[in-house]
Amino acid sequence: MSQQNFKLPLSCQTKGFLRRWIGLRSKAGVLFILMLLLILALPLSTLAQTPSNDPVEIGRQLYGENCAVCHGIDGQGRVGAQLAKDWPSLRPDRVIASVIANGIPGSAMPAWSQARGGPLRDDQIEAIVAYILTWESGGPRVLPPTPTPVLRPPLTPPPDVQGDPNRGATLYDQNCAVCHGSNLEGRIGATLAKNWPSIRPDQSIRNVIANGIQGSAMPAWSRAKGGPLSEAEINDLVAFVLTQAKAAPPSLPTPTPAFQPSWLSGWGGVLLTIVLFVLIVSGALIYQARTKKY
Ligand code: HEC
Ligand code: HEC
Repeated sequence: MSQQNFKLPLSCQTKGFLRRWIGLRSKAGVLFILMLLLILALPLSTLAQTPSNDPVEIGRQLYGENCAVCHGIDGQGRVGAQLAKDWPSLRPDRVIASVIANGIPGSAMPAWSQARGGPLRDDQIEAIVAYILTWESGGPRVLPPTPTPVLRPPLTPPPDVQGDPNRGATLYDQNCAVCHGSNLEGRIGATLAKNWPSIRPDQSIRNVIANGIQGSAMPAWSRAKGGPLSEAEINDLVAFVLTQAKAAPPSLPTPTPAFQPSWLSGWGGVLLTIVLFVLIVSGALIYQARTKKY
């Protein structure tokens, strides 16, 4: 079903056939049918781009988005344990799936299953397990993607704060977005796009980042507590979180683009525009052709 085979005969031979078969005499009518067929062909081209449903490939993607922050892009371990290793169990897939679904209480490892309030479906967890198992010795090595950084305009540092919010934004995308959402809207972790009630919010935020929150999924990030971030990096994060607090006043918690129905952006929107355009143009052409005849 390649599109070339599909279009060529249409423009050459089929015109006459369409005219006879559908009984359309005006050029506008044929044009209308051709455009309709073109529109019908468009979704086919998007279908061809749908991502693969190979579980290892899906797992690779999900791992990069959710786990690499703590376990390292290569499974080598960071805040979280090393995952690129040989698993001692007879059914390592069940052991790993259970840990991912339920988390490890008392550690930084959160529960990821929707049954436990996490963001991942069971089939997504199975896909990640399949990907992790490719790291067993002899398994193929595939590098997961690094999370895509969010494009933000340059930020001015808030007053009385030492860190650089622009460096903080990058650190945030790499370490925190996985739990707090790319727009700080909250996910496994609390929303950070809010007004901070304290008189010195920078100090309370720095304290939480450095030391984590005992008994919750919020890990400690300071080197003093075994985390991966330096004092300066934590200051950058504090500055960044504070700039975002101002950007999101309490009366408007979600940015405006979120209100658009998703089908209006992307192919849905393109299709809708083309359909409307074609309907109007062909309507006008047919009307013109009719009025000429009589
Ligand atoms: C906030 C950091 C963090 C994130 C994010 C995280 N983990 Fe963990 N994970 C940990 C820590 C810490 C441990 C070790 C806990 C312990 O044993 O005390 C761990 C342990 C594990 C283990 C058990 C390792 C072993 O040797 O038994 C598996 C499997 C695992 N994580 C998978 C995942 C997967 C898959 C994801 C992504 C869906 C993920 N983790 C996300 C912190 C994290
Ligand atoms: C594994 C998930 C996870 C990651 C990764 C994570 N957090 Fe958190 N964070 C949480 C959770 C869960 C809470 C809420 C804990 C509670 O209040 O019980 C939280 C709370 C916080 C709070 C306090 C919010 C409040 O309203 O007081 C701040 C600030 C914060 N996180 C900043 C960060 C920053 C900055 C990073 C990146 C360096 C980060 N977090 C990474 C899970 C996470």
